[in-house]
Amino acid sequence: MPGGENLTIKNAIREVNMKIDIGETDNVRSQLLIVPVFEGETEIKEIKNKGLSESISRVLKSGVLKGRIFETLFTVTDLTEPKYIIFAGMGKKEGATLHDLRKVAGVVSKTCAPKGIEKYGVMLRGKWPKKLLAPIWVEGLLHGAYRYTEFKSEKEENASHEIKEILLYNVNETEKDTIRSLCSTASNILTSVNAYRNIINAPPNYMTPAKLADVAVAMAQKRKIKYKVFGLREIEELKMGGIIAVSKGSREEPRFVELDYSPDKYRKTVCLVGKGVTFDSGGISIKPWDGMEKMKYDMAGATAVIGAMDVISQMRPAVRVIGLVPIVENLPGGSAYKPGDILKMYNGKTVEVISTDAEGRLILADALAYGLRYKPDAMIDIATLTGACVIALGHEASGVLGNDEKLIRIIKSAGEETGERVWELPLWKEYEELIKSDHADMKNVGGRDAGTIQGAVFLKRFVGDVPWAHIDIAGTAWYDNEKPYASAGATGWGIRLLSAVIEKFT
Ligand code: BES
Ligand code: ZN
Ligand code: ZN
Repeated sequence: MPGGENLTIKNAIREVNMKIDIGETDNVRSQLLIVPVFEGETEIKEIKNKGLSESISRVLKSGVLKGRIFETLFTVTDLTEPKYIIFAGMGKKEGATLHDLRKVAGVVSKTCAPKGIEKYGVMLRGKWPKKLLAPIWVEGLLHGAYRYTEFKSEKEENASHEIKEILLYNVNETEKDTIRSLCSTASNILTSVNAYRNIINAPPNYMTPAKLADVAVAMAQKRKIKYKVFGLREIEELKMGGIIAVSKGSREEPRFVELDYSPDKYRKTVCLVGKGVTFDSGGISIKPWDGMEKMKYDMAGATAVIGAMDVISQMRPAVRVIGLVPIVENLPGGSAYKPGDILKMYNGKTVEVISTDAEGRLILADALAYGLRYKPDAMIDIATLTGACVIALGHEASGVLGNDEKLIRIIKSAGEETGERVWELPLWKEYEELIKSDHADMKNVGGRDAGTIQGAVFLKRFVGDVPWAHIDIAGTAWYDNEKPYASAGATGWGIRLLSAVIEKFT
């Protein structure tokens, strides 16, 4: 598609143009009114407008809506505002969680966005404080409305899915300002998340290593943070043996991007490192054809870091954050690296290549070792590292492993808050055995056991004594199939988690 490559970059740095406001239930001013309903509810007391309240009661009393989770009932009123009401099932009240609520919001906008609805009104109700509810609605609605259409030629399919305004109803006078500000923050973050979903979904013939580096640069320039981009020559000078080896089979040259958010005052420095494989064919250890097209999302760790740096530089927490993004394409060209090769990494350690498909850990290892020069208080890497993690945890949680309990606790609690949940796997010393090599300091794969753990055991060799955690997002970064609350493809997972983790370092 002509211009496609520029469009993707523009998407990543576009302005937020969505409006957030507080509305009154006696004077509904939105095209759509969303009414969340728990199982068994037959009455909704919060609506002050009599006519509206009566017609809502009529629907609830009729029994057509059971209130089951993800159930929706879309109705047309004879008013201009709200022209439509959507009843959104929330499930049983006792068991309902905020994770459910975020998904319910996604179901609503996924249902309404194709109808061309742009102004949403949410009736805030449920068992949680409004300060928690409101931003979750905003997040869920914006996430659910997203669709990747850049390469669709049909006009109809390409129609705008954008939410232009969200009104929040049923807010107490005293909380209005807080809620407005929490919601505009949520809206800014989700605009970034959706923009980076475009970057992940972009096909690998457009989103090459050079292009992905351009995205990072465009972001850094817009947010006025420092950045450096290393090309092949500089990467060779730095002796980053992992990045050099993996990129050798492709005509696309690698990149190594350094992003630096340094506030005037800070006490702690955190390094974020993201895997940027713009396409992973497996290399000489080539993958089967079936599903290989999905390996364009093997750079979702990179966008999680670039996206988090984008959000962080808007939030301006008092923490220095260094983002490191090694970017390569893994192809089996004539000069590709091979099983049996022994690589000398940035920190001087040697690695015997067993599978060229375990390439992520090789590029991350160089980046992590490089990160030590900042003497960080913590390092976190995020990567679509192993298929084994998808088998273990599916799409509901990312794997987390590391050498520091406190850091892992921080990540877990940020995961609970943002809904981007993580589940810890052990990193006991016994697992070290698996990657022993006869001829080098270690090998990049040691058989089929404990695949996700092996990845982390390998990375651990490159972080010295620094508190470090590895997050495996192979299962969470991508939905193979459409969900009721999200379209198939990139989820944008990790941006919100990492930003929340950084906030905890202030
Ligand atoms: N990018 C893949 C991991 C992956 C698989 C991500 C499926 C998302 C979905 C990674 O580079 C890889 O190929 N890992 C291998 C490791 C193996 C060779 C030890 C894997 O998981 O099979
Ligand atoms: Zn691979
Ligand atoms: Zn990979």
